Amino acid sequence: MFTRLKQKWKVTNLQLVLVLCTFAIGGSLCGFLGRKVMGLANLEVNGWGILVYLVVVTLLWPLCVLAVSLLLGQFSFFRGYLLRVWQRMRGQKTGGPGPTAHNLAIFASGSGSNAEKIMAHFANHPHIRVGIVVSNNGAAGVLLHAQRYGIPTLIIDKNRFLTGDAYVPHLQEAGITAVVLAGFLLKVPLTLIDVFGGKVVNIHPALLPKHGGKGMYGKHVHEAVLAQGDASSGITIHLVDGQYDHGPQLFSATCAVLPTDDAGTLAQRVLELEHRHYAPTIERWLTTP
Ligand code: GRF
Repeated sequence: MFTRLKQKWKVTNLQLVLVLCTFAIGGSLCGFLGRKVMGLANLEVNGWGILVYLVVVTLLWPLCVLAVSLLLGQFSFFRGYLLRVWQRMRGQKTGGPGPTAHNLAIFASGSGSNAEKIMAHFANHPHIRVGIVVSNNGAAGVLLHAQRYGIPTLIIDKNRFLTGDAYVPHLQEAGITAVVLAGFLLKVPLTLIDVFGGKVVNIHPALLPKHGGKGMYGKHVHEAVLAQGDASSGITIHLVDGQYDHGPQLFSATCAVLPTDDAGTLAQRVLELEHRHYAPTIERWLTTP
């Protein structure tokens, strides 16, 4: 039950405890204040008084949970929660993505050519959109791409990302439902993977499990392929499980390694594969039941 709640609300273990405490304390506070109000109005909580009491606590409850959520640091969760309840009561579709909609966070550290292809692919998609671009590098080219597409950006601090809250509250506030790594050089903390129910995907410019792991990025990958004398290389798109370049594979494609190749020419051939396949694979992954 708690696992389902965690996934439904997209919260960490600690946050789940704090959210449940907020519900409990907020509810008790609401009952307490409701009786106080009834007392001030000289009304008993019986007969018609029960109806009045119900109206009073219904009005007080959101205020009480919001007040407690402020104290427990869960204000942004409850603000979103109450907004969704309100929209449902008014018969509106809830804001943010519904069951068939996906709101992506792209994480990238560099030029972001893959990120740009993804932004373009989903720019007018009916069910999938890019909601935010996240980078640990304030000078990363990917930020300019995001600006061009009018996508909000977030520059993260390495320590807070790796050992703090991993920016989970920020991503939740942006209504993110899945994370796409596109040349992101930091290891994604388990907290984040957990919160998004495993919906974190990565692309690697080689055929995993070969030539993956810590330090295997950029030209190092292609140099390793050439050093091993591999006849082919390619790309691997996989779910992220907390280890570098590891997790269930969604897609792979190969290309030849030519005798005349150096790391640069091979990188170019592999990058073309990435540009062709990453966005469609993400789309299939998210839309295939
Ligand atoms: C790509 O080769 C990708 O496989 C790897 O990082 C590179 C990012 O390139 N994870 P770009 O920034 O998308 O051009």
